[in-house]
Order: sequence, then structure tokens, then C-alpha cells
Amino acid sequence: SEGVVRRDRFSGGPARSFLSSLEADARIFEADLEVDRAHVVMLAECEIVESDVAGKILTALDAIEVEGHENLPDGEDVHEAIETAVIEQIGPDGGKMHTARSRNDEVATCIRYRLREDVLSAIETTLALREALLEVADEHAETTMPGYTHLQPAQPITVGHWALSYENAVRRDTARLLDAYGRINQSPLGGAAFAGTTFDIDRERTADLLGFDSVLENSMDASSSRDFLLETTQALSTLATTLSGLAEDVIIFANRGFVDLSDDYSSTSSIMPQKKNPDTLELVRAVAGDAAGEVQGLTTTLKGLPRAYNRDLQRATPHAWEAVDAVREATEVAAGAVSTADWNEAELADEAGAGFSTATGVADLLAENGLPFRTAHEVVARAAEVDTDDEFEAIEAAAAEVLGEPLESYVDPAAVEAALDPAESVASRDSQGGPAPSAVRDQLESGRQALKVD
Ligand code: ARG
Repeated sequence: SEGVVRRDRFSGGPARSFLSSLEADARIFEADLEVDRAHVVMLAECEIVESDVAGKILTALDAIEVEGHENLPDGEDVHEAIETAVIEQIGPDGGKMHTARSRNDEVATCIRYRLREDVLSAIETTLALREALLEVADEHAETTMPGYTHLQPAQPITVGHWALSYENAVRRDTARLLDAYGRINQSPLGGAAFAGTTFDIDRERTADLLGFDSVLENSMDASSSRDFLLETTQALSTLATTLSGLAEDVIIFANRGFVDLSDDYSSTSSIMPQKKNPDTLELVRAVAGDAAGEVQGLTTTLKGLPRAYNRDLQRATPHAWEAVDAVREATEVAAGAVSTADWNEAELADEAGAGFSTATGVADLLAENGLPFRTAHEVVARAAEVDTDDEFEAIEAAAAEVLGEPLESYVDPAAVEAALDPAESVASRDSQGGPAPSAVRDQLESGRQALKVD
């Protein structure tokens, strides 16, 4: 047919495989068939294509689906290959399928159609991770552990408090993906090449048939914008960054004997038989690099593209697929590693007060008893400089030195002893969102509520 001749003229040369996205388009094969079906149904309903021709095209599409992507005829992309296959099956009438559209609005619709599904499953994995973190928080609302800043013991906290800190972050990652989903779920179909069409089409109808929430109104925007890919990839990259911190923490905790990873999420060494390595979490940590790279590649590809369609867009799409595949898998693995890990309560309790990490609580206590906080800080700072196991004694000495009066004249010594106890220290920090078991229980409640809503 005419069409085949034109294609041979324009894309049969040495750059053929460079031009072609057919292989990469396997990802949108099913989507393209759905988009073709919706378009053909609409064309028939609007009496642009005869119903018997539409029927034959739909039958051909079913047969093509059964044959599968790998058996498509050659083509510059999946859209062209499917059209060629339809024409091969039913003759020149098959060419009516491409009335009132272009591959530009077609591919944009296919990407959005497929990405919806991928983003939804990525969102599912964030929900599973949140559930895993909530379970840890529930089980270990009371388990005391060291909290760090600058990787140094800073203040004792609870494992539940730590777990919820990541649950809160992943909750926002879910929200970002849901937000992006809302803008993915709009139909560009009917935008045609970019400048609309003379045919009296029904864009709302195809949007509806394909399950889109609405139509992207401006035809030039519909066919050529890819900010939905960018924001989705960015949201995935932000999630991956959250995951990398979580992975790093667990790797450090495992290294210190605070947590035992399940064998399922560990690896061993091919030479050192005693090794149990946190390889899965190291890979989770690394995925943040992949995702950031996809954002970078996508941004650089999209930057400065003029309106309307340019073929650069063909190379933009795979960045989003790579990001969603890698981050979805990493989130799944992180959830599995977290939910199967064992926390060593004894080890954690031993270390919770290490490095005089209860110092802030003692300073707070002195301040509650009337000393200016800065003076209290000075007393405890001096005590911290003393190399001793008896922190109480060191505080007494520092108080005498700084204040010129015995500690007892400022504060009940028993209260100081209590403040030096990691578990009591944690229990006293029961401000909203704090590490105290009671505060952790409240946060657990909001975490569960949010999970239910999402
Ligand atoms: N395969 C292309 C893509 O992924 C769509 C084809 C549009 N081609 C064109 N020359 N206008 O973007």
C-alpha cells in the first residue's frame, strides 16, 4: 500500500535501528492496543469510520494481541507496527484506524496509560513499607536504643521512634506519587500531531473508555508535554533517597549488633565463610543513585525542547521506566528486610546510654529546677569531659565547680540518677512526636490512620 512505500522511503536506511523504538515499546504494546480500540470505537460512534470497518479493525487487534509484541512486523515503533499488522490482516481499510490522530498523541496516551499501572504498584510498595515500619514501631515502642547525630551517640530514643521517623517520610513519598498520579491520569488522545484535527472527534469519550479522569485540553500541550514523566521520576527519586537513608541506618545497626537481618535478605562471601553481609540493603542504598541519574537524564533531554513534538521525546520515556522498576523493587526489598529483621533488645539497652547520651536530659532537669539552660549545659559539659564510668559523681563535681554550691541545693539527687537512666530519659521525652513510648503510641495511631486513608 501507499503507506508502506512512504515508510520505506523515509526510514529504511542505515539509521533504521537508531530511529526505531520498537524494542523498547514492548512496554506499551498492551497500552497501544487499548488506545487503538478506544480510538476506533470513538471513530465509529462519531460516524467517522463505518462500523463494519471498525469491527474488522477490532478483530484484527485481538489477533495481534494474541500474536504478541515479538511477532509484530518491523516498524519504526509499536504504533506503526500494529497499524501495519492491521492492514496486513484486513487490507487498506485498516489504514482508517489512524484517522484523526497522530503517533504523537498516541504515544503520549500509551505512556500515561502504562505509567498509571506502574505508579500504582509503586504506591502499593510504599504502603507495604509503611506497614512494615508500623509493625516494628508497635513491637518496639518501648525498646530503648541510642539515637545519633553526626553518627555519635546523642540521646536515647526508642526503636519505635526511629521506625516512625521513616514511616513519616515514606508517607510523604506516597503522597507525592499519588499527586503525580492525578496528573498522569489525563488523556492527550485527540491532540493529534499537536494542532488538533478537522474531524469531529469526541475526546471525552476516548478519555472515558481508557479510564482517564479528564482530557488534557490544549492539543499542543497534550501531544508534547512530558512534565508528568519528570515529576513522577522525581517523586520516585525522592522515595529512593528516603530508602537509602533507611538502608544505611539498618546497615550500621546490623554492623553494631543492634539488629540481625534475616538470611533471606543477606548474602555471604565467596571466600570468607563467616560473613553475613547486608547486600540487599546496600543495593537499596545504591538505587537512589540510579533514580537520581534517571531524573538527570530526563531533565537534560527535556530541557530546551521547543514546542511541539520532537523525536528526543522517544528517549525521554525509558528514564521513567528505569526509575519506576528500580525504585519499586528497592521499596519491596526494603519492606521485606525491615519486617524480617530481629532487634536485639539487650544489646540496644546496653548501648542506649553510651557516650553520656543522657546528658541533655540532665541539663534539662537542672533547667527545670531554675538554672538558666546555658549554665546547666555548662555543668553537664564539664562533667562530660571527665573520663569516668560514674557520671553522677562527675556531675556533682562539675556542679560544685561551676555553681560554687553542692548539687543537692539545686536539685534532688535521685532525680539526677533517674535522668541518667536511658529508659527513664526516654520516657520523660513525651512531647508530641517524641521518643517516649506514650508518644510513640500516639504516632502509631496517626500512622495507621494515614495508611488506611491511602
Ligand atoms: N516512537 C515515538 C516516541 O516514542 C513516537 C513517534 C512519533 N514520531 C514522529 N516522528 N512524530 O516518541
